[in-house]
Amino acid sequence: MSMYDDIEKILISEQELQDRIAELADEMNAFYTDADRPVLVCILKGAFMFLADLTRHLKFRHELDFMVVSSYGRSTKSSGIVRILLDLETNIQDRNVIIVEDIVDTGRTLSYILRHFHARHPASVRICTLLNKPSRREVEIPVDFYGFKVPDEFVVGYGLDYAEEYRNLPFIGVLKPSVYTM
Ligand code: IMP
Repeated sequence: MSMYDDIEKILISEQELQDRIAELADEMNAFYTDADRPVLVCILKGAFMFLADLTRHLKFRHELDFMVVSSYGRSTKSSGIVRILLDLETNIQDRNVIIVEDIVDTGRTLSYILRHFHARHPASVRICTLLNKPSRREVEIPVDFYGFKVPDEFVVGYGLDYAEEYRNLPFIGVLKPSVYTM
């Protein structure tokens, strides 16, 4: 069976993603200048595709860095335990930081990362997430830039996975519940 058969519906099409990401980049282009020279920190693995598309639309000078944090494993619920598997290479003291995330769900992952960053005394930290699921928030998170609000459904594609699969889909889709209740 193809992985496309595991998708119940397409929530955000490839075209809608591309159009909104260009708009979102323009919001950031209006906000940052060359002098800010922010460091975009991509939270892997989920945000890899979003970062790749977003950075191509940004007009201000910036740097890229990557962080790997632990995921849910084979589950659709957050364990609440966040582990940093790969940390930043950049010294962010006195730097402007933009965290690039795939989705803010309960907010626990970002709350942990924010604490971790603030301890290093950056000049500023802002959050840019492709998807925002505010109905599930458990920890308040200042989301500065986001692409789409999504309902309380488990989504995959465009970087987001279930048990490490579906990241390559060019759209955001809802997985059939039968896939994860099996
Ligand atoms: P939070 O800590 O609950 O905000 O969850 C953040 C992380 O959980 C994200 O970076 C995703 O990797 C993962 N996640 C949350 N919701 C979904 C979803 O609907 N699909 C796939 N991954 C998700």
